[in-house]
Amino acid sequence: MNSLLTFTVPLLCSTLVWGGYLEDDQDVLVPVDWAHVSRLSPSEELELTFALKQQNVHQLEETLRLVSDPDSAQYGKYLSLEEVASLVRPSELTQKVVHHWLQSHGVTNSCLLNYFFSCFLNCSCHCANLVYGHDGLLNLPPTPYPAVGGLHRFPPNRQDLSKAKKSSGKHTHLKAWLHLGVTPAILRQRYNLTAADVGSAQNNSQAVAQFLEQYYHPADLAEFMSMFGSSFKHMSKVDRVVGTQGGGKAGLEASLDVEYIMSTGANISTWVFTNPGRHESQEPFLQWMVLLSNMSDLPHVHTISYGDDEDSLSAAYMMRINTEFMKAGVRGISLLFASGDSGAGCRHLTKGRNSFRPSFPASSPFVTTVGGTSFKNPFKVTYEVTDYISGGGFSNIFKMPDYQASAVDSYLKAVAASLPPQTYFNTSGRAYPDMAALSDNYWVVSNRVPIPWVSGTSASTPVVGGMLALINDQRLLKGLPALGFLNPRLYKLKGQALFDVTEGCHLGCLDEQVQGKGFCAAPSWDPVTGWGTPNYPALLAALLK
Ligand SMILES: *[C@@H]1O[C@H](CO)[C@@H](O)[C@H](O)[C@H]1NC(C)=O
Ligand SMILES: *[C@@H]1O[C@H](CO)[C@@H](O)[C@H](O)[C@H]1NC(C)=O
Ligand SMILES: *[C@@H]1O[C@H](CO)[C@@H](O)[C@H](O)[C@H]1NC(C)=O
Ligand SMILES: *[C@@H]1O[C@H](CO)[C@@H](O)[C@H](O)[C@H]1NC(C)=O
Ligand SMILES: *[C@@H]1O[C@H](CO)[C@@H](O)[C@H](O)[C@H]1NC(C)=O
Ligand SMILES: *[C@@H]1O[C@H](CO)[C@@H](O)[C@H](O)[C@H]1NC(C)=O
Repeated sequence: MNSLLTFTVPLLCSTLVWGGYLEDDQDVLVPVDWAHVSRLSPSEELELTFALKQQNVHQLEETLRLVSDPDSAQYGKYLSLEEVASLVRPSELTQKVVHHWLQSHGVTNSCLLNYFFSCFLNCSCHCANLVYGHDGLLNLPPTPYPAVGGLHRFPPNRQDLSKAKKSSGKHTHLKAWLHLGVTPAILRQRYNLTAADVGSAQNNSQAVAQFLEQYYHPADLAEFMSMFGSSFKHMSKVDRVVGTQGGGKAGLEASLDVEYIMSTGANISTWVFTNPGRHESQEPFLQWMVLLSNMSDLPHVHTISYGDDEDSLSAAYMMRINTEFMKAGVRGISLLFASGDSGAGCRHLTKGRNSFRPSFPASSPFVTTVGGTSFKNPFKVTYEVTDYISGGGFSNIFKMPDYQASAVDSYLKAVAASLPPQTYFNTSGRAYPDMAALSDNYWVVSNRVPIPWVSGTSASTPVVGGMLALINDQRLLKGLPALGFLNPRLYKLKGQALFDVTEGCHLGCLDEQVQGKGFCAAPSWDPVTGWGTPNYPALLAALLK
């Protein structure tokens, strides 16, 4: 039997609704701790997104496996947007039921139905009726900012994944004087990028996505490039902004992402997806996915430095977003996410009982997750060690994908004696990150001011993204398809072409059992720095077939 199940993830003025024709065993979709509360004012404007249940998700996953596995005959044979759409299009029945349901509440006029994926609803007073007419289906949280649902916190929580360390204090002053910090030239030196390693293919491009009030300023980018870009051919302008850039001050995150993807992915056309949102509380992340799902011509590489604790999101939400990641993957799009800046994280379960706290989308098996490192000797461009903030661990939601099973198993066996207690993490889950790059002491120009000591995996992610875009560039010049979803191929390299990071541990719970420690780096793959950091020429050679 099928039943129509819907619930909302609450936002102050915008509401996300998951709906569709669901199997009975999918009623995990309703978050437990939600209660129905007060009536919304009829003048309230709501924007509802209906993520309809899609068909053939298993086939989609299998297709992704085949097009991303270098040993498969279908490697690189990506699907077009239209092909993906027809593969997963919600069934007639799902569409009919939802349409009918909307109609019965008189909202179809203000509804934009995009059948193959979702429906945006902009309805003024109707929404109150919609919400109220369906007590059992739609629930609102007790307060505007409840601890449940979590979606409204999704981007803001890590909005500042990158943090400019306070410039007061002895430590940083010392560093300021003695350590020049990470600049494009330092990165290009460390990762062996020569002046010739810049993009030149027609129609190659890369993108960063920004959320909420994060805007980049073209003048900052130009100033950054004039300060730091003299040693390599680069672009000083973003080619395309998708969405509306708001006014106001530039965000550090946005400045960082744009400046650094364009420093490693030099001379490559760059797009910025910007999702300002009408209300401060608006959840734009899904809108970005909807956009990707609706544009047939997209950059091959996207980097995103936002995320949130897995346990603050519903499993259904993460599963649905995960399907969108698969849809991007089968189209040959590489999605890179920052692994987070809290190490293994810490969640207080009950009195005296803690566990690590994985972060999503970093924990999705269908994205490439990037961790962070610092120089072993901060005064020299030498080898890298763990940056203690580097996010990493094991998902509690997503099963471990086959492509990483043996790498993770080897790690767990090799370090068995020194692992944190098994109650802190879930060895059956997707383990991350997949690789890493420097994440400490970056220079960023924001609001026309050069800012030192910007740190976080938000920095390492666009750096790696730019390098993948460069490799795509060489592939396109040779007539090869773009890299697409990299992980199956990355894990087959078994660390070849990467600088293995083997020293240092990241943060964990500050309790007696683990005493502030999460996992530690080790030879080969580890849940702190993945396979390590890119040695560009070697990685290019390995991926140029
Ligand atoms: C929603 O509808 C109102 C009234 O029809 C309109 O003024 C407003 O611009 C719409 N908002 C969006 C996001 O479409
Ligand atoms: C790349 O960099 C490393 C360390 O900086 C160096 O040992 C190596 O020779 C360089 N070149 C290549 C092609 O790997
Ligand atoms: C930079 O890219 C353009 C194409 O966008 C290409 O024509 C030009 O040759 C590239 N410059 C270098 C130095 O490769
Ligand atoms: C994008 O969505 C609109 C409706 O929302 C639809 O008319 C259009 O065909 C879609 N475009 C693509 C390329 O899917
Ligand atoms: C590819 O080139 C076409 C024509 O120049 C352009 O319209 C399109 O935006 C490019 N696509 C990407 C993803 O850069
Ligand atoms: C461990 O992860 C699996 C998925 O890989 C999940 O089914 C299970 O519920 C998780 N356990 C805990 C305690 O979260």
